[in-house]
Amino acid sequence: MAAPRCASKALRASVRQLSSQAPAVQRRTFVAATSAVRAGVKAAPKAAATPFQQTRGLKTVDFAGTKEDVYERADWPREKLLEYFKNDTLAMIGYGSQGHGQGLNLRDNGLNVIVGVRKDGASWKEAQQDGWVPGKNLFDVDEAISRGTIIMNLLSDAAQSETWPKIKPQLTKGKTLYFSHGFSPVFKDLTKVDVPKDIDVILVAPKGSGRTVRTLFREGRGINSSVAVYQDITGKAEEKAVALGVAVGSGYLYKTTFEKEVYSDLYGERGCLMGGIHGMFLAQYEVLRERGHSPSEAFNETVEEATQSLYPLIGQNGMDYMYAACSTTARRGAIDWSKRFKDTLKPVFKDLYDSVENGTETKRSLDYNSRPDYRELYQKEMDEIANLEIWRAGKAVRSLRPENSK
Ligand SMILES: NC(=O)c1ccc[n+]([C@@H]2O[C@H](COP(=O)([O-])OP(=O)(O)OC[C@H]3O[C@@H](n4cnc5c(N)ncnc54)[C@H](OP(=O)(O)O)[C@@H]3O)[C@@H](O)[C@H]2O)c1
Repeated sequence: MAAPRCASKALRASVRQLSSQAPAVQRRTFVAATSAVRAGVKAAPKAAATPFQQTRGLKTVDFAGTKEDVYERADWPREKLLEYFKNDTLAMIGYGSQGHGQGLNLRDNGLNVIVGVRKDGASWKEAQQDGWVPGKNLFDVDEAISRGTIIMNLLSDAAQSETWPKIKPQLTKGKTLYFSHGFSPVFKDLTKVDVPKDIDVILVAPKGSGRTVRTLFREGRGINSSVAVYQDITGKAEEKAVALGVAVGSGYLYKTTFEKEVYSDLYGERGCLMGGIHGMFLAQYEVLRERGHSPSEAFNETVEEATQSLYPLIGQNGMDYMYAACSTTARRGAIDWSKRFKDTLKPVFKDLYDSVENGTETKRSLDYNSRPDYRELYQKEMDEIANLEIWRAGKAVRSLRPENSK
């Protein structure tokens, strides 16, 4: 909702933030942002007239010309959730990032939730530290599934595949199976997760880490999530998915399918969200260093200004708003070069989507993440990344941020 007033408030906040930061790094944007404020944020986009029709909690929202259904938590106050799930036991299987966030939110909402994890694992200890009590609401996986009516499979995706032969026979008629990713059932030829034909199978996939699911809930807000139905036996699967989505801490729930959720998710994290952006940072930094720029300059012009100044402006009000907040010099070059980057990168993104759709990415993920030494192997890769010059330079740059230096 980019009302001009909000835009100018956001921009003032950005300017306040920028003015308290290292001037050499931020000047270009700071000066331009200040001018934009002075100009009454003329360049900021107008409030999107978001025409939506609402029928009890379901909004049909016009997203740039395409109408989509969005559910909101306003229709599921706590009392209604308690009533709706009064006969249910929610069995949270797995207590990693999502299990922790969703499980604690369900518990704080007052629902009857139990956690199921293996007794010798790290999650068992973590769950106890979070106040789950063995024998009361903390059990091993089999016991939790046998007690649960709604089985929330939040094991890692590789573990969902590995444990499926033991889990499947326990998913008897009347239970509901819940996922936070379409991975296991969609790629069933690879994962072997073929769901029983006589139970509801639903999905709520928060669009963020489990830590954010928890933090936003505690702040009284909700995370955006995808919601989908894979199998509707009772005729109530969608309603149940939406109610669960709200109960685990979602604010808005965007309707999708299991297939679309898993394709877009695997594609996005390999692309702009993580892999693509890391590749682009590295390429830009390396060229700057090869052309004689110092590590601090290369880092500031590649990562620091992006993450601390420009990307938040895109997040607040869009790309045009960020462009408008920068100098005409920056704007001219950026608009021109964006076309070349798009044309160069689009074939790579097409390859990536194919690789997701044809299961190559799933196979790679299953093979790698099922290895007994996968944690050590990841740690080695994380250490290698942390030791790259760019990220070591970044550590030094961060130490000079106002909040870290006296
Ligand atoms: N993380 C995210 O940001 C995110 C966001 C949206 C959706 N999702 C989805 O949410 C689901 C859970 O993801 P997550 O990131 O929360 O998972 P995770 O942090 O990787 O959680 C792993 C859990 O699986 C258990 N586990 C691993 N191997 C096991 C095995 N062989 N047998 C029994 N338990 C095993 C772990 O227990 P131990 O401690 O005992 O090893 C831990 O409780 C996935 O479908 C994921 O795609 C994740």
